[in-house]
Amino acid sequence: MLKTKKALVNRPALGVFPGEYWPNKLKSVLLAVSPGLPNVTTMMCGSCSNENAYKSMFITYRKHQRGENVDFSESENNSCMINQPPGSPHLSLLSFHGAFHGRTLATLATTHSKAIHKLDIPSLDWPIASFPKYKYPLEENIKENKAEDEKCLAEVEDLIEKYNKKGHSSCRNCSRADTVRGRR
Ligand SMILES: Cc1ncc(COP(=O)(O)O)c(C=O)c1O
Repeated sequence: MLKTKKALVNRPALGVFPGEYWPNKLKSVLLAVSPGLPNVTTMMCGSCSNENAYKSMFITYRKHQRGENVDFSESENNSCMINQPPGSPHLSLLSFHGAFHGRTLATLATTHSKAIHKLDIPSLDWPIASFPKYKYPLEENIKENKAEDEKCLAEVEDLIEKYNKKGHSSCRNCSRADTVRGRR
């Protein structure tokens, strides 16, 4: 209990100066309920978690493109410092109309629930697709809902193609919004 209190009080410092008890806490509490994933990291908020997930997806995507153990080129090292490709590549992440993923800059680009969250903030030109709107009860609307799924999936395919043509390729592995929230 004392250790948990210590961790909570020192939460902002956990990333840089974790207490010696912290790895065991992560193992016995979070990894104990992990659905098979071998590692865990903690974040300060939902937006930070999504920001970190977005960055991880882009890094993984570029690693696959570049090849394992291939070093960054001089041109990548130089261009990323001024936000230009190839170091800062024109990649995009597909999100869905109505989604809420947070209010930090990158997550806000994937948030589409209320204008007041987004007004006056510059954003990223990333694709946004329709999320299927199902008719209920599901068992009485199987045909309609299947048609809705097909329409939305076709839109996703079109957007991926459109953004690939623009040179802003969509990370296919990362093109699913985690939730859609209509009430914000
Ligand atoms: C689905 C979803 N993503 C992201 C967030 C952002 O979390 P936070 O407000 O902790 O940054 C929220 C917050 O309600 C959320 O519901």
